[in-house]
Amino acid sequence: QQLKLSLEQIEKGGYEHFMLKEIFEQPKSIHDTLRGRLLVEEGIIKMAGIWDHLERLNQAQKITIIACGTSWHAGLIGEYLIEEFARIPVEVEYASEFRYRNPIITDKDIVIAISQSGETADTMAAIKMAKEKGAFVYGICNVVDSSISRITDAGSYTHAGPEIGVASTKAFTSQLTVLSLIALKLGKHNGHLSNQEFMKLITELDALPKKVEEVLESTHEHVKEIAKHFIGAQNFLYLGRGYNFPAALEGALKLKEISYIHAEGYPAAEMKHGPIALIDENMPIVIIAPKQGHYDKIVSNVQEIKARKGRIIALVNKGDTQVASVADFVIEFPETSECFSPIIASIPLQLLAYYIAVYRGANVDQPRNLAKSVTVE
Ligand code: G6P
Repeated sequence: QQLKLSLEQIEKGGYEHFMLKEIFEQPKSIHDTLRGRLLVEEGIIKMAGIWDHLERLNQAQKITIIACGTSWHAGLIGEYLIEEFARIPVEVEYASEFRYRNPIITDKDIVIAISQSGETADTMAAIKMAKEKGAFVYGICNVVDSSISRITDAGSYTHAGPEIGVASTKAFTSQLTVLSLIALKLGKHNGHLSNQEFMKLITELDALPKKVEEVLESTHEHVKEIAKHFIGAQNFLYLGRGYNFPAALEGALKLKEISYIHAEGYPAAEMKHGPIALIDENMPIVIIAPKQGHYDKIVSNVQEIKARKGRIIALVNKGDTQVASVADFVIEFPETSECFSPIIASIPLQLLAYYIAVYRGANVDQPRNLAKSVTVE
């Protein structure tokens, strides 16, 4: 019997959707982002775009990161990374807002534009404005030779490979990887990061592809089961603190985009300033609670949710007992440095959004009303 496969099926490589294929590609895409750049044995990060402009970058009065959608979430984590390791002030703006106000940008400023497609209209316009004001613009794009990569003064490609699913997955984790490399390289050369600390962090960074593989294998089936319990949900709350606050925003965005369930991401501590009013037995709450990163505070947030009968899906490190004992569903992920935990925590969140959407019969790869690349305003 002849096996007939359409071109699309071949491209999907045996996966039901591009999105699932791209989720599973992440050990490789992160490895590709690091390849040739992270040389652990030599103790160096090689990035021509950064090296060639090191002085200008490290003397920046401030860095403004501009982006849209998922890339904007990566930018928020970039702010935490660059401020922590390179000690340069960072602001993160939606490109669409930045371009229509009159931001204070001078020739002492650096603007980092993040875009998977390299074609987003608002990001393009924001870059042009930043350049007119004299800023040095650094691009982080996935698509090689895209418009944004051509108009920026320098940049780094993410090398995640083509992303077909409209909801961004592997491009996001590669953006976080590039931002980590940049922050660590700047910090190493401007003296804010000790050699010992730098070595510890790059060793951890080097271990990420393996850990991402591990989390895919250990959580895939389990998350698929958990998803079944939430097919009928109408709202979702995603909470995280520190580096995992933007990861919560991204988790909520993934669910919204593909399942059409309303979801909001919040910094866990802000819960008491509003969202707590919504919590009852019908409200699922995803909480990202790694051991490193305000764990004790998260434990009390979890207890506050439980007291109001919220249904808790907790993402914790392996072996966790405190949060796990209170949560309704527990997803374990391998431990890493706090600053890299969003890369690992994002994987089960992508899977959760994916399976809820699949069970709801949604068109996962091409959600209604959304486009992969928004080239008009
Ligand atoms: C669209 C896509 C998102 C993406 C955003 C920014 O909304 O659906 O997945 O995050 O644009 O796109 P960019 O290509 O600039 O990263």
